[in-house]
Amino acid sequence: MSKTYRVAILGATGAVGTELLELLESRNFPVAELKLLASERSVGRSLPFKGENIIVEAVSDRALENVDIVLASAGGSTSKAWASVAVEKGAVVIDNSSAFRMNPDVPLIVPEVNPQAAADHKGIIANPNCTTILMTLAVWPLHQVRPVQRIVAATYQSASGAGAKAMAEVKTQSSAILKGEEPVAEVLPYPLAFNLFPHNSPLTDSGYCEEELKMVNETRKIFGTQEIRITATCVRVPVLRAHSEAINLEFAEPFSPDEAREILSHAPGVKLLEDWGKNYFPMPIEASGRDEVLVGRIRQDISHPCGLELWLCGDQIRKGAALNAVQIAELLVEKNLLQPTKAYVAR
Ligand code: A2P
Repeated sequence: MSKTYRVAILGATGAVGTELLELLESRNFPVAELKLLASERSVGRSLPFKGENIIVEAVSDRALENVDIVLASAGGSTSKAWASVAVEKGAVVIDNSSAFRMNPDVPLIVPEVNPQAAADHKGIIANPNCTTILMTLAVWPLHQVRPVQRIVAATYQSASGAGAKAMAEVKTQSSAILKGEEPVAEVLPYPLAFNLFPHNSPLTDSGYCEEELKMVNETRKIFGTQEIRITATCVRVPVLRAHSEAINLEFAEPFSPDEAREILSHAPGVKLLEDWGKNYFPMPIEASGRDEVLVGRIRQDISHPCGLELWLCGDQIRKGAALNAVQIAELLVEKNLLQPTKAYVAR
């Protein structure tokens, strides 16, 4: 009989948590037992899994006992509080928050890009930032053929990146505006419906917000090089659940759009979607609910002989978060990497 695993979802009631639950079922992950963990607020709720209703428990020392894999998506402070507890109790934690991503002891993995990094884990593996995951899927296959020297990204990020409450808020604001009422912003800093604003993550002294610096630093860590120059402008847009990105790439020598198209047409996790005659290219409504990142509008940068422009859309909750985490869990199972080599010591 094939091996099965005791899995816990920390943040099970959230936007990513509920998607994790669905993916474990639809991808037939070998689950022996499933624990759904959230805050005290959710105690008593239940969520369906494989025809059963599983009761949500508050996260606690006890709840993290006898678990092989924790899929965590409950925010950075919850991960900081509970990840090392779970590792001490013998679990491997796949963490969707930014808490451990830049820790040198924690692999940061996109399975299509750097699966080999999983072998070095010490109990915690980080799931990268959503915009970073989506961008790396399109850029890595090109970088393998001719190293990219500079990336300039502009993002159009959906409400889902701020969680289920932000998604609900955009709907409420939209219906208020349509009724001629003032939209109320409680979860996000400003009304997002019929509006957009620069990304709401904290600003840093550099003038970049944290989301923008995640794209810079995480991409370099995943690609295993500090040499690539990266800059980004991240913007929140009134889309429910898929992010879009305009990406400008600069190489040392010309990279023809046709060659890039050919490479991306069989790149893992990527779907090329272009109909130039109809001006039809990736859109967030088509990327929503899909596993692949949709890439199109590949064209020569007219401002630079070695530049390439592309456009992509990807489901932020799925490949940008939950799917990537489940793929990491599948990788650990496939490569037999569930026993951490050394206990994790939080720094
Ligand atoms: P809860 O629903 O009980 O608040 P989202 O990203 O969609 O906002 O979801 C966040 C997830 O993280 C939810 O499942 C939420 O649970 C969970 N969560 C938030 N704070 C905590 C906490 N302090 N302890 C455990 N789970 C938490």
